[in-house]
Amino acid sequence: MNQLDQLSQLQTQALDELAAAQDEQALEAWRIKWLGRKGLVPAAVKRIGSLPREERAAYGKAVNQLKQAVQAAFEARKQALSEAKLEAELKAEAIDVTLPGRRPQVGRMHPISRTLRQIYEVFAYMGFQIYTARDVETDEYNFQLLNFPKGHPAREMQDTFHTTVPDVILRTHTSPGQIRVMRERHPEPIRVILPGKCYRYEQVTARAEMMFYQVEGLAVGRNITFADLKGTLHAFAEQVFGEGRKLRFRTSHFPFTEPSAEVDIDCILCGGKGCRVCKYTGWLEILGCGMVHPNVLRNGGYDPDEFTGYAFGMGPERVAMLLYGIDDIRYFYANDARVLPQL
Ligand code: PHE
Repeated sequence: MNQLDQLSQLQTQALDELAAAQDEQALEAWRIKWLGRKGLVPAAVKRIGSLPREERAAYGKAVNQLKQAVQAAFEARKQALSEAKLEAELKAEAIDVTLPGRRPQVGRMHPISRTLRQIYEVFAYMGFQIYTARDVETDEYNFQLLNFPKGHPAREMQDTFHTTVPDVILRTHTSPGQIRVMRERHPEPIRVILPGKCYRYEQVTARAEMMFYQVEGLAVGRNITFADLKGTLHAFAEQVFGEGRKLRFRTSHFPFTEPSAEVDIDCILCGGKGCRVCKYTGWLEILGCGMVHPNVLRNGGYDPDEFTGYAFGMGPERVAMLLYGIDDIRYFYANDARVLPQL
């Protein structure tokens, strides 16, 4: 085979191998083999010096063409491979915007917190201030100053958590806050609500938890009447449960109010016709209330001949059960992730 045929064979081989190089690594190996300093193409160029003078011109021209062709093919291959690589990368990293999004879990306020805020708003609008009293109370404030002397039978309604300190207890209701507010001698008329946790050592049932909230209300002034109490509670019921609500006041007894009443609202589920929730009575109990007992006014520092007042105590869990249509109080504090998000 003459020199020129050898060159053309060399070129064919170079281009075949180049076409087989599928990635940058293979391409680099190919470059070193063919175009590197000790590569086959420079070797072919160098061979020119060993040829007889008369063959050099033709060989020189051919080897130059070969060198240029191989070089150009290399550049084109290099370009093609890098484009293919970029293409593959883009494809791999592509975001499929047609995939449906994943909804993030969003936390929200507990239904009892929401109900409390709703209650605060209604009373704030009527001029009540919010007073926070303590959870850990003394027997004196929780009972004695509220007209429950030691051994009074009404204490049995409020089974008490005692502490290791004698006469220091967890409050069984928010009513001791009445005495604490009165003793601070705010300008009359006093109009406050006292929300907070209460504790009773009770069997947990669908209607009773050991820890629950109350919102106490208290008004004290020079001419506050039972009519004011009724009007205030009626306004509250309409704001929270909707217009046209009916309230029913039933006589009751609390040691710290006289007269005392329990208040029912016409069943918001059946509209008073009678259903399972209202036990077919058409009424639902929502709170206890009454006129502040003269002894309690006196214990708070007010002369009952000059001052009168009313008080009420409601259970926000009860209100929330009605608003959310739940018939078991335990759902609120069981922290069941299947239940709370539904409310
Ligand atoms: N403290 C009473 C209870 O826990 C409720 C109440 C408050 C009643 C204020 C009358 C006046 O049952």
